[in-house]
Amino acid sequence: MKKTVAVIGLGYLGATTAVALSLVGHRVIGIDPDEKKVASLRAGRVPFYEPGLDEALGEALATKELEFVTAHDESSHEVDVFLLCVGTPQSRTGLGADLQYLEASIDGLAPYLRAEAVVVGKSTVPVGTAAYLKQRLSSLVDFAPNFAWNPEFLREGTALKDTLTPDRLVIGTSDSYSEQVLRELYQPLTENGVPLVSVDIPTSELVKVAANSFLATKISFINAMAEIAENVGADAVALAEAIGYDERIGNKFLRTGIGFGGGCLPKDIRAFQARANELGLTESVSFLAQVEDINLRRRTRVVDIAVEELGDLAGRRVTVLGAAFKPETDDIRDSPAMAVAELLWAAGAEITMHDPKAGDNVRRMYPQLAVEDRIADAVAGADLVVVATEWRDYGLADSAELGKLVANKLVIDGRNTLPYRQWQQNGWKVIALGRNLDSALVGV
Ligand SMILES: NC(=O)c1ccc[n+]([C@@H]2O[C@H](COP(=O)([O-])OP(=O)(O)OC[C@H]3O[C@@H](n4cnc5c(N)ncnc54)[C@H](O)[C@@H]3O)[C@@H](O)[C@H]2O)c1
Repeated sequence: MKKTVAVIGLGYLGATTAVALSLVGHRVIGIDPDEKKVASLRAGRVPFYEPGLDEALGEALATKELEFVTAHDESSHEVDVFLLCVGTPQSRTGLGADLQYLEASIDGLAPYLRAEAVVVGKSTVPVGTAAYLKQRLSSLVDFAPNFAWNPEFLREGTALKDTLTPDRLVIGTSDSYSEQVLRELYQPLTENGVPLVSVDIPTSELVKVAANSFLATKISFINAMAEIAENVGADAVALAEAIGYDERIGNKFLRTGIGFGGGCLPKDIRAFQARANELGLTESVSFLAQVEDINLRRRTRVVDIAVEELGDLAGRRVTVLGAAFKPETDDIRDSPAMAVAELLWAAGAEITMHDPKAGDNVRRMYPQLAVEDRIADAVAGADLVVVATEWRDYGLADSAELGKLVANKLVIDGRNTLPYRQWQQNGWKVIALGRNLDSALVGV
């Protein structure tokens, strides 16, 4: 059944959600105080890089059922479902989540809320946040508001596909009316076979942080194995392949390298620890501190290798290929690539970066780092090249040609993405995290 939906917050999550819900037949009003963002979306330009989303936005705008505004107006009185998609970054003062944007969203929508409408949180939050926000909203209206949670699992790089055909939908409700409204909202997806798991609200909040904690743990597990492998002449990529065949383990998210990052996993596992601490359950998730420690050690390992190879890094020219926290996005929030670049810079190296999509974000946020738009320009004169994001461009790069441009044919593959035999044949010394490239058994 067609709904009028307000999507509050138009970042990676909100913009994608607004476009997707409009494409499946709902009327959508996207709201974000960021005037530039709204102007860009109105003009059919997604303000960040997400494959396929520009085209989908154009398609959605053409239906005239999608509009973008900077603040609530009279049309918010017609809204059936308010979706809260604002950021929940790490607080400035600790590990916990900063809920100020959610609080502001609640305060902003309250004057427009009809008793029949449902307010649904999609942002990732510590368990208990929905109860707190519902209470806040209740104090602002003169009826009992319908409140639900609907965590989001989209991945940047495949966000639109993940939104239209997610592995599953999770809805957390405490009343059958809200549950019914959410089932109707997602009917276009569920009738195509998308599973919908209906749970209570605290479970829905926990599902998301539990999933992210599991994924972070899986990456840190294989990176811990890489630390061991590096010290005993074993190969962690071969190890991952071998254990990954076991269906109980699976081979996804078992890539060794410089670890996880981005706008979600790191802050979510920190906020989970902070919340567990508040609940007096510190020990239940204390392993997450180790997960993070392993993750951070992989970044410093790159610097250690650089020093082992080059000695003092002061004045040495290092090219970091990749800035985004993963390929197919321009998102550099908590990116391992940026952390490695900053660590090398702090050790005295002169850094030049390249990223197919995130270059402008680096220029804006890291003025101390040089950025080039072409790989060849970035590596010119380099004493060391570090591959920090597994963009296809780097795996496909012509190592013979690049070899002619650098001062020293030394590459650290922080993502295990290079066809290293070819690079070696072209005279490069290749060091790959967690790998034993001398092993005769290791494939390309
Ligand atoms: N990015 C992802 O891949 C992803 C995936 C799943 C879940 N999430 C979760 O979704 C939430 C949003 O993440 P994001 O990456 O889209 O963040 P983001 O920073 O890209 O976007 C947040 C947006 O909210 C806007 N905003 C702030 N205050 C507002 C207000 N009062 N009213 C309306 N808009 C307001 C900001 O201007 C910004 O455009 C977070 O909780 C995140 O953990 C993100």
